[in-house]
Amino acid sequence: MTKPVAGVTGAGSGIGAAIATELGRRGYHVVLSDIDLASAERVASTLESAQALALDVTDAAACEALVGGVVQEHGRLDVWVSNAGISKMQRFVDISSSDLKRNFEVNTFGVFYCGQAAARAMIALGTRGSIVNTASMAAKQGGVPFLADYVASKFAVLGLTQAMAYELAPFGIRVNSVCPGFVATAMQTRELAWEAELRGVEPDLVKQMWIDATPLARLETPEDVAKVVAFLASDDAAFLTGESISVNGGAYMD
Ligand SMILES: NC(=O)c1ccc[n+]([C@@H]2O[C@H](COP(=O)([O-])OP(=O)(O)OC[C@H]3O[C@@H](n4cnc5c(N)ncnc54)[C@H](O)[C@@H]3O)[C@@H](O)[C@H]2O)c1
Repeated sequence: MTKPVAGVTGAGSGIGAAIATELGRRGYHVVLSDIDLASAERVASTLESAQALALDVTDAAACEALVGGVVQEHGRLDVWVSNAGISKMQRFVDISSSDLKRNFEVNTFGVFYCGQAAARAMIALGTRGSIVNTASMAAKQGGVPFLADYVASKFAVLGLTQAMAYELAPFGIRVNSVCPGFVATAMQTRELAWEAELRGVEPDLVKQMWIDATPLARLETPEDVAKVVAFLASDDAAFLTGESISVNGGAYMD
């Protein structure tokens, strides 16, 4: 039997790289995609069975073509993880319409386009697959500084996750989200610098504020998120759909 196939977007860095690695460890052939192909290639080279492809998730036709190519090559698609995302910290009053649009294009439309392509393929294959979207703690509460566009784009992912779960349930396809907290990645390093500047404090103080806001008292690791994504992808979550699972060390409880 061929290995099950999992696709992960934004897999060249941080959380996506950890998700790809965890799924590889669990026996999947992993298709790593990223707008930065070289980064996806670097991660793929560390996995037993993997390939790296360039993908800008804001390009609907490219999402469809990538999924189509994977199905043509492997004859299956079992798991899809829409993880690619961007952020830029700014005061609400300073966010330009082009920054707002770009944020929604990657964080929301990208999840829509990839999810649509994956769902079409799974339906055509008759696969009772699993789709996981990386949302955020900021998808559940707007009390987050300097990220108004990001918050709006991530709240939308939760609604989309529920709508997809509802419509795809008759095909046996489950759709869930993960909502990470303060995860130590390149995105976080950028956010530390932005928030420190906007608050007029040192980055170390911002980092300590984030740890103090987390009852489990440490920064989250990409692997903390990856393990929950792998659970959502697995049969252990066979009766779980339309949910948005917080993985944040207790920083936000709902
Ligand atoms: N780091 C955190 O604290 C945190 C918290 C909550 C949610 N998230 C979410 O987790 C996901 C991964 O974030 P991360 O922290 O690993 O960030 P990261 O910046 O380390 O990685 C994001 C990856 O997405 C890729 N990417 C960006 N735009 C893309 C596009 N248009 N098409 C395809 N790929 C693109 C980047 O090249 C990069 O490899 C994002 O959706 C982010 O919003 C992160």
